[in-house]
Amino acid sequence: MRVVENGMSQLSLAVDLAGLRLRNPTLNAAGVLGISSPLLRRVYEAGAGAVVTKSIGPRPRAGHPNPTVSAVECGLLNAMGLPNPGAGYFAEEIRKLKDVGVPVVASFFGESVEAFAETAMVLAEAGADALELNCSCPNVEEEMGMLGADPAGVERVTAAVKGAVDPPVFVKLTPNVADIAEVARAAEQGGADAVTAVNTLLALAVDADLRRPVLANVTGGLSGPALKPVALRCVWEVAEAVDIPVIGCGGVSGWRDAVEFLLCGASAVEVGTALMTKGLDVFRDIPEGIRGYMEEQGFGEVGEIVGLAHEG
Ligand code: DHB
Repeated sequence: MRVVENGMSQLSLAVDLAGLRLRNPTLNAAGVLGISSPLLRRVYEAGAGAVVTKSIGPRPRAGHPNPTVSAVECGLLNAMGLPNPGAGYFAEEIRKLKDVGVPVVASFFGESVEAFAETAMVLAEAGADALELNCSCPNVEEEMGMLGADPAGVERVTAAVKGAVDPPVFVKLTPNVADIAEVARAAEQGGADAVTAVNTLLALAVDADLRRPVLANVTGGLSGPALKPVALRCVWEVAEAVDIPVIGCGGVSGWRDAVEFLLCGASAVEVGTALMTKGLDVFRDIPEGIRGYMEEQGFGEVGEIVGLAHEG
């Protein structure tokens, strides 16, 4: 309950994500503005509770040929193919962020269980405060893309990473499965400290004039407002299935979206596509809006809202 002293409300937006303390429950989603330390520093200075890097793999990777992005109704379709400079290079970017006190969640992937663990070790060694295991990219053919749909694989890779690093490990789940609760339970069983729900939804855009798919990769991942109802359903099901915190992701562009995710059981939210449409101001507007909602509804801490829609 809200404590009122001298007419001033003692309202806190801080949240605890498996030991990672955030000043407010917002982060950028992996892949958006996460490719360099100056950009991530701007995300934090704009107001985010912590920052999430672009997904980093064990070695440099070029990604898919263009076109890699297409605007669609109510969202964005992309198939970048996980381009990144490799963990060795990116470790230095993480160090630069830690030098200026930015809380960093390092998103990472590998093409084998061993590569996942090795990459995680490099990023943890560089000072990442938490790791987000991306086993749910929809755009790669290799094992790393399929892994997120296989509960046994998710448990195995999570356990391998947990055995290799100290910081908390968040497992990012794909919505492209029949039963996301089963995959979430597998991640928890493997030792995940939290799960992020969800990554992008497998989709396609076609150009009627060219009579061809728009993206060079043919299919891509759908993000933005079109994804929100799917993501809310996923957060709802995952929150009922596991006892670890859930981080909501998918179509959050304003404070009301964020509150909806909290009510469904998310402890924090990641903002991706809206950073491109609305800019960094979302990291001021969303926490302010959550604060206003809490004041109006009489809540003192964000945790009091988490999962409320499941009650009664
Ligand atoms: C890519 C990776 C993702 O995890 C995603 O959701 C969408 C695109 C990519 O790099 O292709």
